[in-house]
Amino acid sequence: MNESNLNIDIIDVPEPIKDKLRSLSSNITIRKQSRKGACGWLFFGENRINRQKIAIKFYDWGGDTSHAEPQNLAAIKSENVISILDAAFVNTDYAYFLTPYCEKGDLDEEICSGVQGNSRAVKLTRDVLSGLSFLHTAKLLHRDLKPQNILIDDRGRAIIGDFGSVKKIPDGSNSVPGSGHSLIYRPPESVKNGQYGITGDIYQIGLLFFQLLGGHFPYEESAWLTQKQLAKYHATEDCIDKQLFATDCIKKRIVASTVADTSTLPPWVCLPLIRTITKACNKEPRKRYSTCNEFLAHINAIRNEIHDWQIVAGLPTRFGTPNYRIQFDKKHSIHYVEKDKDSGWRKDNTFTNTDMPNLVREIETRV
Ligand SMILES: Nc1ncnc2c1ncn2[C@@H]1O[C@H](COP(=O)(O)OP(=O)(O)O)[C@@H](O)[C@H]1O
Ligand SMILES: [Mg+2]
Repeated sequence: MNESNLNIDIIDVPEPIKDKLRSLSSNITIRKQSRKGACGWLFFGENRINRQKIAIKFYDWGGDTSHAEPQNLAAIKSENVISILDAAFVNTDYAYFLTPYCEKGDLDEEICSGVQGNSRAVKLTRDVLSGLSFLHTAKLLHRDLKPQNILIDDRGRAIIGDFGSVKKIPDGSNSVPGSGHSLIYRPPESVKNGQYGITGDIYQIGLLFFQLLGGHFPYEESAWLTQKQLAKYHATEDCIDKQLFATDCIKKRIVASTVADTSTLPPWVCLPLIRTITKACNKEPRKRYSTCNEFLAHINAIRNEIHDWQIVAGLPTRFGTPNYRIQFDKKHSIHYVEKDKDSGWRKDNTFTNTDMPNLVREIETRV
């Protein structure tokens, strides 16, 4: 029986994957192939019996024995790591994971919808660190932690997905080769000498935290180039040469550890948060947090210093007693503050500044 909406015969995937899909479709209605799966073949469907929505991700493991075995990953039980409902090798080239489908999508969609503020960024980062600690305990390195690979469950929690780059740390060693994926997220040591250990994953979480807090993190490669480099980039006609040049410039930037430029963070990101990012993304792996638990403990320790700034209806709002928010007066092109002491928002004329960063600072002195 094949009631799937997708015509498996005509899709453009390797034959062994088609065969596997045909056999899986006796229990699963395969609804569609996702265009998002860039490094594999991703399908969404529904379990015919319990109606659970699922995702099936096929990837090329190419006989690489250092690749994490699907069974090792399936043994990980954390609410912040996507649960594996089924996983197996298809043959010596391909393997697949069957996981629940997350309707809320991935963290990149959330980041692209606008900065949400300190509390949400801290919460999501804690979720990811907590999930990652389970992988590390199992001696597994994710190697591709970035917003597109973090899914959001229906309770708004972050869960680690995309195990396509996960590798097991071999006995007697503490690192593996770095993943070639997602250049901008690669830690300096992986660009320099191809090495990647636990602190490589910590670096990637540092970048994730930076992005969640609203740091400047463009996705177009040319946006990472200096003016001088950009001029050469535009003057280069050959596409491959252009790409190689951009890659080289980005690698230099990674090695110089200037990817997470904390001066681009919004003004409500306080110094303890900035220091946290700087430490997690340190050029030297040994100067970063050495484990997820150390990183988590640090976030817990600075909790009281992080004020609850959220962006509500586009307005930076600091929740506390009282609540403050920053409004913009279009007519006079100035910012001003409103205060809410549980009786509605009223203009607060005691503030002297008229620009956003200084008003944020002024509000912070009122705590
Ligand atoms: N279980 C899932 N639920 C919802 N969306 C998913 C799921 N798995 C993957 N996706 C979406 O598909 C994208 C690509 O999937 P991913 O496993 O990261 O494959 P790739 O190896 O191609 O990056 C993700 O960034 C996410 O947007
Ligand atoms: Mg991915």
